[in-house]
Order: sequence, then structure tokens, then C-alpha cells
Amino acid sequence: MSAGDDPAPLGFGNRFTSHMVVARWTTEKGWGPAGLTGHRPLELPPTAMALHYGQAIFEGLKAYAAADGTLALFRPWFNAERFARSAARLAMPELPPQVFVAACETLARADADEVPRGQGQSLYLRPFMIAVEPNLGVRPSREYLFAVVASPVDHFFAGGGEAIDVWCPDGLIRAAPGGTGAAKCAGNYAGSLATKAEALANGCQEVLWLDALEHRWIEELGAMNFFCAVRTPDGETQLVTPALSDTILAGNIRDSLLRLAAGLGHRVTERPVALAELTADDSRVTEAFACGTAASVVPIGVIRTPRGRTLVGDGRPGKLTAALRDELAAVQYGRQHDAHGWMHPVPGVSLAPSP
Ligand code: COI
Repeated sequence: MSAGDDPAPLGFGNRFTSHMVVARWTTEKGWGPAGLTGHRPLELPPTAMALHYGQAIFEGLKAYAAADGTLALFRPWFNAERFARSAARLAMPELPPQVFVAACETLARADADEVPRGQGQSLYLRPFMIAVEPNLGVRPSREYLFAVVASPVDHFFAGGGEAIDVWCPDGLIRAAPGGTGAAKCAGNYAGSLATKAEALANGCQEVLWLDALEHRWIEELGAMNFFCAVRTPDGETQLVTPALSDTILAGNIRDSLLRLAAGLGHRVTERPVALAELTADDSRVTEAFACGTAASVVPIGVIRTPRGRTLVGDGRPGKLTAALRDELAAVQYGRQHDAHGWMHPVPGVSLAPSP
């Protein structure tokens, strides 16, 4: 498949590129070399510890093809450092961030001609690490596999910039203080799936997660971070997101939007946001959105709970939401000066310029 040939929607995570990068770690030898191979099934013992006790972490980052033919990763060091923190939380070995970034570069370079170049498309890279020692003892594995695979993708939500309805369940939580909520580990996602099914059954696309202790404070939105715009009594609009904690994943896009919004002159605040702040009759919240690598920026139109339904603002994508989504895309696709130095060109790649 060559760039731009396939006008059919790609969806998200349905197809994979030709190659992968693999490295192995043992307690005796540490990390072996990260090698490029064809994308193929892994051979694992049925007693590989990841399959039983869930030592499995991952990352998600994207490579974007710019019109001038440059291929660049978006802030790969951010993901590399978070991967190291996730590994520490799951008692797994740290992969040096420079090895992580080099592995992503290697795969993006090898599969550069499979990077899609349609509107909103990109190459999603999925680095991951799993425990592969064959053992049923409840302790950290002594052998691990690190790999990076890649998937040509559209945005996570097929509707692009359309507003979604979100489901706020009673009682179910994603993360608790002292737990693994701030790590990007597979178990956090497994634990969310039944609630996501409940959201879909209630006509919503995602889950709005509240805190474990009071079930009052907004923490995340599906696998994404949450933001809202709040009109202050003096008429100013502030961009607000819950402060990071051990129950919130530190998102790359979350961090980037905070910086972009500040650069555009908006006041940004990291503070607790109660669900009631959005659902009150006299709510000052004018817009809300979720953000993540896969989905970019997703407007939230409606909040549903088992007791009722609330429109956020007028239920349509807000102006600030759209402006931030556009600003981020302009940087990622090389249409705007990269003032923050976020784009990391993949060395040795030169794609055909877009017409
Ligand atoms: C992200 O976009 O940051 C995600 O983690 C979504 C992924 C689990 C599909």
C-alpha cells in the first residue's frame, strides 16, 4: 500500500504495517538489541507471566507525514519517559528512553511508505512490554519482551470533530488512590471494558470516570483526559482540567493542550472538577472535551447518568475546543511553526511531497 492510495476509511487499529521492532530482557543479561523484523505472531509459552498476572504495559504515539515530505513523531520522549514510569509501577525493567525513541524511529523509517496521508490520518505506533518468563509464581517476571508495532489510522472516533455523549455510571471506577491509574498498564483498560459496554448500551460513546473515594470528582473520559471551559463571573473563559494524581494518566495531548492554550492567551487551571459543576442548572461550564493521542480532541455534547441527561453548553462542539483541535493538528501535520519543538523528524525519511 503506498501513501495516499487508499481512500477507504482506515478506522483505528484494524490493520498493521509490514514490520515490528523486538527486544528481550533477562535478569542475567539486561536488554538485548532492538531488532527490526517482519510483523508476525509472537511465540509465547502458555505460562508467560503476562498472561496470568498482567505484567503488561504499553504506549501510543503517532507519526505524521507533512506536506513537504517530512515524517515526524509527536513528542516521543514524553511517551518514553511515561513508559519508564509505567514499568517501575508494574515492577518491570526500565527501557532506556533513548532505546524507546530509537525503536520508534526504526519502525517508522522501515514502514514510512505505509504512513497514510489522508485528512486526519497518521501512523499509530504501539510500543509495549510484557512478562514472558514461563512461571506461575506470584512475583515479577525475570524475562520480558519489548516490541513496537504500527497501525495506519484515522482518528479514534469516526465522526472526527463531532460531539459525543458520555456515560457516568453509578459506583464503577477506573482507578483508586495508591493503585495503578497513572500507569499505562493493560489491566486498567481490561477493567474499563464492561463499563464501556454499559455506556454503549445507554447510547453513549464513552465513560466519564469519577473518583473512587467520593464519586464526585471527574478524573478521566474513557482512555482520555478531560477538559472543560468555564466562564468566570468577570466574563473570562478559563480552560480547566483535573490536576494529575496517582489516579490520572499524564497524557501527552493533555500536556500539549495546556501549553498551546496558554500560548493562545487562555488562562489554564489544573484543579478538581466536580460532576455537579457541569450538571448544575446554573453551570458556568460552556464547553467540555476529551483528549488523547488516538482521538486528538473530542467534544463532549451530553452527559448521561442513570438519573438523567445534561447538555454541555448547547450540546455542540465549542469554539475553544475546535480552536485547540485545529491548532494541535496544524503543528502535528507541519502546517504551522512548531514553536515548542514537539515534532521529532524521523531521520533518513523523505516522503514524496503532497500535491
Ligand atoms: C490514547 O489515545 O492516549 C489512548 O491511550 C487510546 C488507546 C488506548 C487506543
